[in-house]
Amino acid sequence: PRSIYLSRHGESQFNVEGKIGGDSLLSARGAQYADALPALIKDNIGEAPLTVWTSTLRRTIQTGAKLQYPKLTWKSLDELDAGVCDGMTYEEIEQAYPDDFANRDDDKFNYRYRGGESCRDVVVRLEPVIMELERQENVLVIGHQAILRCLYAYFHHLPQVDLPYINIPLHTVIKLTPKAYGCDEERYALPI
Ligand code: F6P
Repeated sequence: PRSIYLSRHGESQFNVEGKIGGDSLLSARGAQYADALPALIKDNIGEAPLTVWTSTLRRTIQTGAKLQYPKLTWKSLDELDAGVCDGMTYEEIEQAYPDDFANRDDDKFNYRYRGGESCRDVVVRLEPVIMELERQENVLVIGHQAILRCLYAYFHHLPQVDLPYINIPLHTVIKLTPKAYGCDEERYALPI
């Protein structure tokens, strides 16, 4: 059976600083994850073929750089666009846009950042990615938290309201193996 491997990019400079969005590079820890990823994947998949998908953002490309497999870059896999809040910390957002911040708490799935996207927008833009994922053999998606929540929810048939709260940890590969009904899941966390 074929599997879909999901991984967030390694820890980024912005993750360290608590800032959302952006296009920062990996931190030293994040770079360690990128170094360790090829052995983890090889141990799991052996000689089977694999395609690696990344977003156009540097932190995902850097995370996949050491993997020796065919690669594809998708603009549609870029992180949820936080609009005017891009590059801010949650504290700064709460200060600058207190009402927005409260609305987001009320309905996180539909909340749209000013000049940016909502989770719902992301679900829509991921449709072609999901269509293609359904047709492919083994794929490793190196993505972002909000994006991987959508893919994870899709394959596990989770309700939309729960989607924005799914925790997708750093430095962990989630292996999904679709079955006739639902999906088997395994997780491989690297102690980095
Ligand atoms: O902080 C990393 C990040 O991927 C941001 O770019 C994104 O806005 C955020 O996580 C989404 O997570 P949450 O819903 O917890 O804010």
